[in-house]
Amino acid sequence: MEKDSLLQNNIATLIELIRERGLPKHVAIIMDGNGRWASKRDLPRTAGHQAGVQTAERIIRFAGRELGLRHLTLYAFSTENWARPATEINFIMDLLDKFITEKLAEFEREGVRVIVSGDPTPLPNNLQQRVRDAIEQTAKNSRLVLNIALNYGARQEIVRACRMIAERVASGEVDSAKIDEQTIASSLYTAQIPDPDLIIRTSGEMRLSNFLLWQAAYTELHFTDTLWPDFGPDELVRAIAQYQDRERRYGAVKEAE
Ligand code: FPP
Repeated sequence: MEKDSLLQNNIATLIELIRERGLPKHVAIIMDGNGRWASKRDLPRTAGHQAGVQTAERIIRFAGRELGLRHLTLYAFSTENWARPATEINFIMDLLDKFITEKLAEFEREGVRVIVSGDPTPLPNNLQQRVRDAIEQTAKNSRLVLNIALNYGARQEIVRACRMIAERVASGEVDSAKIDEQTIASSLYTAQIPDPDLIIRTSGEMRLSNFLLWQAAYTELHFTDTLWPDFGPDELVRAIAQYQDRERRYGAVKEAE
């Protein structure tokens, strides 16, 4: 009990410190390791996803309410995840549907704005409707933007952007010689939010797996062995503290060099 309150104290101090130092504008998380978390407990993979949703709920609440983070992206389902067994896919789709349905009132109350990155068309109709409702009903909120990457793949996003720009060129709206980085950035799903300052991936895998490839050009990466269901606010705080200790030079050199 005493140890717990000491830990709480340390976390409270660390939260204060990272807020004073300036929070990253956008943190994005690859929530990996649900399946392994379940296997370690002799549970079906679906139990890992169930636990993973609870972690996502805790992190969203903490990020918005306690931390005051402005943008949080969670990688919920990738364009590659369709290769999983149908039972697992259906379970995840139902979980996401339930998650949005149950959380919508809280999001509205807490000022969470939901946006989605990804192609919604292959998703079940009920989930598509849930997503549309959440986007519409939270559109005026501004405390925390929660970007759910759902049927998201960065290469697919870039292909889609190329097609959109090509159509604008063909119609004469855009001069091809004037296409620049901003033209591309503003054609991505993330057009309305800043690039992530920090990407966290749980479960020990050290790759981006087709996540925010354009947007991550200068993003700091944080890899942890913790499996997603075990990831907690304290680890998020420590990851941000480590990020703040790093020096971001964006390809330039320090002034004194
Ligand atoms: C990664 O673990 C998890 C997924 C691809 C599934 C979707 C994520 C959740 C259900 C978390 C909740 C999300 C929101 C937005 C509420 P894995 O299955 O790849 O684990 P493994 O690598 O150990 O097999």
